[in-house]
Amino acid sequence: MRARKLTLLITAGPTIEDIDPVRFISNRATGKLGVALARAAVNKGHRAILVHGPINDSVLKSLPHAKGLTAIAVRSAADMHAAVMKNISRADAVVMSAAVADFTPADVSGVKLKKASSGMVLRLKPTIDILKTLGHKKSRGGKFALIGFALETGSGRTVAERKAARVSEAKRKLRDKNLDAIVLDTPHAMGAEAGDFTVISRDESVRQFRAMSKSDFANVLVALARSIVK
Ligand code: CTP
Repeated sequence: MRARKLTLLITAGPTIEDIDPVRFISNRATGKLGVALARAAVNKGHRAILVHGPINDSVLKSLPHAKGLTAIAVRSAADMHAAVMKNISRADAVVMSAAVADFTPADVSGVKLKKASSGMVLRLKPTIDILKTLGHKKSRGGKFALIGFALETGSGRTVAERKAARVSEAKRKLRDKNLDAIVLDTPHAMGAEAGDFTVISRDESVRQFRAMSKSDFANVLVALARSIVK
């Protein structure tokens, strides 16, 4: 019997939240893992819809020219939310690897802000939590596998304490956001070719992948998505 072809909706990269026509808030994500995921999915014969924030051309060019791959470029968290919701009905699995901004300026100035000698206060408002919205949709009957990420630094005096705090925080996010699995990583993985990844499943079983290349880990995640989709 031939394996069923899945459609994976993958988010990647940072988002950019504009302050004025020349300034913005963003983060260090490069989109390498999300791009590797899209590549791994189509290489395994699946379809991939890659919704990505601004990513360097040198990373994007590693995407194959494949019929099963659709890339959708977005800028802000609000744009990413809209693109994900537009495509969710086609997805068998969603992998939210994007580093979506948690906050965006409360007001975007149409003109370049002038410097003031007294300094300035920038008021931010929370963005929509796309992953949580999808978890909600799943609890109301949405039929897709949902894999999220948790980037944690952890707190505590020892390495072991910090690690335990990170795992426990990831488990909290897994439950709160109604996920099938969550990938715990650290800021060291941002922009790197490889990283230490911990995968926690819905039954809270924990698997560790140390010093693994993002390309290899992408294959692990595609297989995980495959195993969750019935
Ligand atoms: N995420 C999202 N929408 C947002 C913010 C985050 O979908 N507005 C997703 C990310 O793509 C990632 C997951 O949520 O899969 C976890 O992001 P993270 O920043 O680690 O956690 P938060 O839930 O935002 O919590 P906190 O920043 O307080 O740790």
